[in-house]
Amino acid sequence: MPDMDTRTPLDFLLTRRSVPVKMLSAPAPDDATLRQLLTAAARVPDHGKLVPFRFAVLRRQGIDRLARLTREIGTAQGRDPDKLIKQAAAFDDAPLTVAVICTPNLGSPVPLIEQESAAALACLSLVNAAEAAGFGGHWLTGWMARDPEFLEAAFNLAEPQAVSGFIHLGTVKTQPAERPRPDLDAITTWDAS
Ligand SMILES: Cc1cc2nc3c(=O)[nH]c(=O)nc-3n(C[C@H](O)[C@H](O)[C@H](O)COP(=O)(O)O)c2cc1C
Repeated sequence: MPDMDTRTPLDFLLTRRSVPVKMLSAPAPDDATLRQLLTAAARVPDHGKLVPFRFAVLRRQGIDRLARLTREIGTAQGRDPDKLIKQAAAFDDAPLTVAVICTPNLGSPVPLIEQESAAALACLSLVNAAEAAGFGGHWLTGWMARDPEFLEAAFNLAEPQAVSGFIHLGTVKTQPAERPRPDLDAITTWDAS
């Protein structure tokens, strides 16, 4: 088991980052650790307390199935073979994958975008919780996250349900280089008063 992160909470938020799935390796978080990470991931702002998300935990057999479905359905749909190789490889390389599924309630007065936002927050919180526990995480999507045929075959989902993120988790094998971050002054206006 990796050591817990020791940064202060603010320092964590200022320096947190994803670890691409190619830089992850086994061991993945065990079930007890994963329960903690998922508990943290579920603790997100959620308008109306609708809990418009579900977690599908996939270990080797389940992830291999997603890789196979990516190749089979993607090929049958005539998708770019080079992209399909990369998209299936992300599943092949993942030590553990959590599919965060958005399950919006269209009968609710809470707008769809707010329900999708809550599911997206769960994705980020899961990546962050993994990093806080000493692991690494990567949030990926691709056509597999939205394609009705794939979603039905993989998870028995129907619209408006979809995958908000495939969150790949594992031990950090290689630390990624920093990526460019937004220029705060370019994206912020300040009230002059
Ligand atoms: C909704 C969503 C979907 C994403 N899908 C992909 C993807 O399919 N492929 C990819 O390379 N990065 C994708 N990313 C980007 C990575 O998860 C991530 O932003 C990047 O690796 C660095 O993030 P960091 O700020 O956590 O370091 C996605 C991000 C979001 C928010």
